[in-house]
Amino acid sequence: MLTVHSTTDLESQIYKDSLALRFKVFVAEQAVPTELEVEDEEICLHFTMYDNEQAVATARLYPIDDKRLKVQRVAVDKLGRGKGYGRDIMLHMEDYAKQDGFEELILGAQLHATPFYTKLGYEAFGEEYLDAGIKHTDMLKKI
Ligand code: COA
Repeated sequence: MLTVHSTTDLESQIYKDSLALRFKVFVAEQAVPTELEVEDEEICLHFTMYDNEQAVATARLYPIDDKRLKVQRVAVDKLGRGKGYGRDIMLHMEDYAKQDGFEELILGAQLHATPFYTKLGYEAFGEEYLDAGIKHTDMLKKI
C-alpha cells in the first residue's frame, strides 16, 4: 500500500527517511556536495512516500510567498523508478498546495528530468543554469 506523510519536524522518522533517500540519490548517486544538499531544512515541509513501510520517494516544499511554493529535492529510490512513485508524490504535493490556497508551483529541474515535469504540466522559463555542477532549467505550473 502506498502512503505519503509530511512533516516539518526534523527529529521525525518521516524526515529521517526523506534525508536518507536524498543522500542515496543526490549525494551518493549524483555526487552533490553534502553542504549543498542539506540546507534550509527547518523552513521546508518534507514529504516521504512509503510502499508497504519502505521509503520509496521524497520531495519537499520551500515557501516563497503566500501564493507560491518551490518543489525541491524530488528523488525516487533507484530500484523504484519508472513505477509512478515520482508522479504520485508530485500530485500529492500539488493537492496539498491547492488545498492551502497556493496558486503556483515552481521548481529548478535537472535537464534530464524535464520530460517528467512536462508530463505533469510544468513549463520551462528563463535561461539554463548550473547548480551543484548539474544543468538546470526553472519550470512553473499554475495550480
Ligand atoms: N525522462 C523522460 N521521461 C521520464 C523521466 C525521464 N528522466 N522520468 C520519468 N519520466 C516519465 C515516465 O516515463 C512516466 O511517463 P508516462 O506517464 O507516460 O508513463 C512519467 O514521467 C512519470 O514517471 P514516474 O515513474 O512517476 O517517474 P519516477 O518515479 O521514475 O521519478 C525522477 C522520476 C526524475 C524523480 C526519478 O528518476 C529520480 O529520482 N531521479 C534521480 C533524482 C533526480 O534527478 N531528481 C530530479 C531532480 S530535478
